[in-house]
Amino acid sequence: MAESRGSIGLQGFGRTLRRDAWWWEVLPVVVGLGAFGIYATVRAFEGAYYSWGPYLSPFYSPLIDAQHRVWPLSPALLILVFPLGFRVTCYYYRKAYYRAFFMDPPACAVSERLHRNYKGETGFPFVWQNIHRYFLYAGIIFLCFLWYDAIRAFWWDGHFGIGVGTLVLLANIILLSLYLFSCHSLRHLVGGNVDCFSCSAINRARHGAWKKASWLNERHQLFAWFSLFSVGFADFYVRMVASGLFKDFRIL
Ligand code: FES
Repeated sequence: MAESRGSIGLQGFGRTLRRDAWWWEVLPVVVGLGAFGIYATVRAFEGAYYSWGPYLSPFYSPLIDAQHRVWPLSPALLILVFPLGFRVTCYYYRKAYYRAFFMDPPACAVSERLHRNYKGETGFPFVWQNIHRYFLYAGIIFLCFLWYDAIRAFWWDGHFGIGVGTLVLLANIILLSLYLFSCHSLRHLVGGNVDCFSCSAINRARHGAWKKASWLNERHQLFAWFSLFSVGFADFYVRMVASGLFKDFRIL
């Protein structure tokens, strides 16, 4: 199984000694990420049906210039770069779409295309993936807005209430929080750059937080998929209710 990159390359693209159905790991990523990408693009440009009652679609939060005083296009386009950049530069998604869409490599120990001047993420354009930590900082701010939206979904004309949409938005923000708090960059932020965890009270506290971040980080792939599905579904639900195709059921 252990062959040098050069010898695998000589065998040709997609050649491998693996006997398992390695392509089954690739297919769900192509379908899942592809479908989400198409749906999110259509919805971001639609610029309509993004709010109803106390609900606001996560694709449009924070809602900026909804009256089109300055920006004539969809308000989602004003903020899209932040959640999109956060996902696109995510360490897990990078692995997923390098394999599924670029076939580079298609899977572990499966031959990739021959590169003459391969630089990986050390050369342009993929060196830009290193800005992930900055998208994390923006993501934390966005998470605050989305928590505000989820809590606001409990308030109906000044009274406490719960609709199905309230639960949809709440489930979504919990999954998004798990995705963000399991981020590799956040784990490094919490526990990295420390020589001695036991040398001070702050470092001991950081060690405790780092262990929790590590536990979440081991499940990052799971949270990446669940939160992708939940954010898409939350937008879909708000869109359906706002357009009158679904009726929101009031629980309380
Ligand atoms: S590594 Fe995936 S969100 Fe940071």
